[in-house]
Amino acid sequence: MFIKLGEYLNKSPIIEEIAKKLKCSVEDIKFRKNLTGTSTANVSEITWGKKKKVGILKQNTTKVEWLFYSKIASEFDVPAPAPITFSESSDMPWILLEKIPRGIHPRKWTKEHIEKAIKELAGFHAQFHNQESEKIFDGFRKKTTKEWDTTKKRLLENLKRASKIAVNYEGKYPILKSEFDYVKKKLKSKDYLDDLLAGGTSLLHGDVWIYNFMNAPNCSCLLDWQECFFGPPAWELLYFYDLIPLLIDGIKVGIRVNPFTFDELLKIYHAEFKKRGGKTTLPKFKQSLKAAVSFQVAYFWAKILKPDVIHLHGGRYFIARTLRLLPSRKVMREHFKKLLELSK
Ligand SMILES: Nc1ncnc2c1ncn2[C@@H]1O[C@H](COP(=O)(O)OP(=O)(O)O)[C@@H](O)[C@H]1O
Ligand SMILES: [Mg+2]
Repeated sequence: MFIKLGEYLNKSPIIEEIAKKLKCSVEDIKFRKNLTGTSTANVSEITWGKKKKVGILKQNTTKVEWLFYSKIASEFDVPAPAPITFSESSDMPWILLEKIPRGIHPRKWTKEHIEKAIKELAGFHAQFHNQESEKIFDGFRKKTTKEWDTTKKRLLENLKRASKIAVNYEGKYPILKSEFDYVKKKLKSKDYLDDLLAGGTSLLHGDVWIYNFMNAPNCSCLLDWQECFFGPPAWELLYFYDLIPLLIDGIKVGIRVNPFTFDELLKIYHAEFKKRGGKTTLPKFKQSLKAAVSFQVAYFWAKILKPDVIHLHGGRYFIARTLRLLPSRKVMREHFKKLLELSK
C-alpha cells in the first residue's frame, strides 16, 4: 500500500519536533515535493511559516550525517548546504538544509568545474587534516586507524567474494582474479597501513563523485554526507578521480575520457591543500595514494561489481544490475588497468 509523501510528512512522528524548532505550527509546514535519493532516507522540499521559507528536509538519515550537520557544518566552513535546524538527538535523525539551486548537470561538467570541485575538496581535507583525536569528532568512524582491524577484515571479505565472481564470470567480469590477488597481497603486507597513512588522515565525505556535487553558480558544494569518516585524504582524491569518467544515463552507466591525468589533478589538489593549511608533502601524499589504489579496489569496486543474480524459471541464471549496466568489459578493463597502474 502506498501513501502520498505529503500525507507521510503530516503523519510523521517528528513533525511536531520540526514545527517546534521552526517556531511555527504543524499546519504551517507544507510539503512541496519529494526528491528521490539513493538511500533509505526520505528527502523532501518543504515550506514553513507565513513567509513560506523553503528548505530541504532529510528524514531518517544516518547518525553520521546527523553528526556532520549538527556538529561540523554548523561550526566550520565546509562545502555543504548550511543546516537550518536538526533533530535534538540521533534517535530519529532529521536535518533541515538550506536549498541549493540546481547547478550544471554532471554530464555537462567542464574541466573548470572539475578543478573547482577538487579545490573545494582540498580545502575541506586541509581544514581537518590530522585532527581525528579532537573531542568534537567523537562518533565519527576512524576506519583506517582505530578501526583498521575491522576495516581490513571487511576489505579482505569483499575481495574474496569478488574474486569468486571474477572466476565464475570470467570473460564477463572486468577485473581479473590475478588483480584481486595483487590487491590482497598489498593489503596484507606489513607496511601497508604506514603507506596508506603516510599523508595523514582527514575527515572525508566518503562518496565524493560528481553526482554528489551541486555545482551552482556561486558554490560548489557536496550533498549526501551519510558515509562521512576519518581516513586518508589521498584515497578520497583517488575516488573522485576514479569516478570522473562514469556518466549515469538513466540507469545505464556510460564512460567518457577523463579530462585530467591523475598527476594534473594531484598538483591542483596539493597546491590548494597546502594553501589551506594541510601539512603533507607531495612525496608523502603520493606514497599514501599508491596504497590507496588497493583500498579503492577492495572498498569500492569489489563491493559494487556484483552480478546480482536473478534466478529465472527453469534454473537459468541471468546477470543483472551492476555488471550489465556498465559499459563493455573491454572498456572497463582499460579503466581498471589505468587505476592499478597508479599503485606502481
Ligand atoms: N540542500 C539541498 N538543496 C537542493 N537539493 C537537495 C539538497 N539536498 C538534497 N537535495 C536533492 O535531493 C536528492 C537526494 O538527497 P541526498 O542527500 O542525496 O539523499 P540520498 O542520501 O537519499 O541520496 C539530491 O540528489 C538532490 O537532488
Ligand atoms: Mg544522493
